[in-house]
Amino acid sequence: MSAAEARSYTDALAEVLLDCVAGGASVSFMAPFSIEDSKVFFENAVLELAAGKRILLAAFLNSQLVGTVQILTAMPPNQPHRGEVTKLLVHRSARSRGVGLRLMECVEEAAVRAGKTLLVLDTASASAETIYVRLGWTRLGVIPNYALLPDGEFCDTTVFYKQLK
Ligand SMILES: CC(C)(COP(=O)(O)OP(=O)(O)OC[C@H]1O[C@@H](n2cnc3c(N)ncnc32)[C@H](O)[C@@H]1OP(=O)(O)O)[C@@H](O)C(=O)NCCC(=O)NCCS
Repeated sequence: MSAAEARSYTDALAEVLLDCVAGGASVSFMAPFSIEDSKVFFENAVLELAAGKRILLAAFLNSQLVGTVQILTAMPPNQPHRGEVTKLLVHRSARSRGVGLRLMECVEEAAVRAGKTLLVLDTASASAETIYVRLGWTRLGVIPNYALLPDGEFCDTTVFYKQLK
């Protein structure tokens, strides 16, 4: 999505993030998390999209926005080839239908178009791990107690990378 497109879909993007946090996903935010909090996150993301510092993809089912993922592209001067995948989010009502997998396939294409040859990410989601392994990402290992779940419990994170052709 361009910054303008993402701006016009802010409400729908915010609904997806809100649903994921409500479902207990460890994606930066703690409970209580409101739709306003979620909109603020995407309003800031839109500013970074406009500045060329991130890429945002969205997935639609029957014309409804049900998923999204981002690549952070602004890296230090010695890592221009690297991007970080973040906020792979699929609304609970649309899960286990391949949306997450398709978003991750598209992430690779978008990263290559942006001149990236290396992607990294970390995840606390077993379902996401399935996708990354299936797409040939290398699983580096687990960092215990890396983050908190929305309810305040510690969770581990698993670190992955993928070299792009
Ligand atoms: C992780 C997440 C994005 C996966 O989204 P998804 O759209 O359900 O992903 P997919 O459908 O592509 O794959 C997920 C599962 O469905 C299965 N699947 C994929 N395509 C399928 C299909 N056509 N029919 C049935 N099942 C399918 C996959 O094998 C996978 O199985 P598993 O999770 O039981 O191991 C989603 O669970 C989510 O948003 N979680 C909360 C946020 C989060 O933790 N994100 C990860 C941050 S790194």
